Amino acid sequence: MNVQKNQQWDPASYDRHARFVSDLGGPVLDLLDAAPRERILDLGCGDGSLTLKLVRMGCDVLGVDASAAMVDGTRKLGVSAIVMDGQALTFQGEFDAVFSNAALHWMPDADKVIAGVWNALKPGGRFVAEFGGHGNVETIVRAAEVALQARGLPIARPWFFPTAKRYQSMLENQGFQVTSIALIPRPTPLPGDVGQWLTTFAQPFLRTVPEEHREDFVASLVEDLRPTLLGDDGLWRADYVRLRCRAVRPAST
Ligand code: BEZ
Repeated sequence: MNVQKNQQWDPASYDRHARFVSDLGGPVLDLLDAAPRERILDLGCGDGSLTLKLVRMGCDVLGVDASAAMVDGTRKLGVSAIVMDGQALTFQGEFDAVFSNAALHWMPDADKVIAGVWNALKPGGRFVAEFGGHGNVETIVRAAEVALQARGLPIARPWFFPTAKRYQSMLENQGFQVTSIALIPRPTPLPGDVGQWLTTFAQPFLRTVPEEHREDFVASLVEDLRPTLLGDDGLWRADYVRLRCRAVRPAST
């Protein structure tokens, strides 16, 4: 997970409200198919939960994240991690694989991310990632935009949610061979209500609301979204759509 302007991460709150993000990382870890002793970069390592899994599989892993607080949390697990912006990676040909879960949508300069990943990989290395794709949390974003607009407040979508076609062509423009890429709708049960989700993940939206009105703003969004996102089973579900991909830097490059 990356830190962005107007979005701050705190490992304790992340543990309470966002644990499902790493818990749902199984499919992208399977796609990575890491082998013991491989040198792997975890791009946007967040609190290090998946980084630690890779370490336990015998990989030699480095986590990077733009949030110093999250890097601290990762190091407390005994995992190597450094603070670095994923849009300005500085590695040269040292990794067998670059892995990323639920981070790249926080990095709008995707061409710079892709170039940095390419440079970080050894020739023949692979890039395996999952993040928010086109249509991700659209129900929530739309409702937030309508509510902001009704209050005459500015709207800025802070995330990069590309289509598979667009992301594939960005990867290919860099020289990657894309071996798999797909958009995967994944309605995701939340640990609390959508208000908690907004407070945890949508700070860039909420910061445009004057602080004294923020609580009311979130409460009214919860009511707007209740009929659509609250299931009969009492669980709130966010309309997540994942973009999952695997791309290879050809051996001859
Ligand atoms: C996501 O993981 O898809 C996501 C996280 C935070 C904000 C928006 C989307």
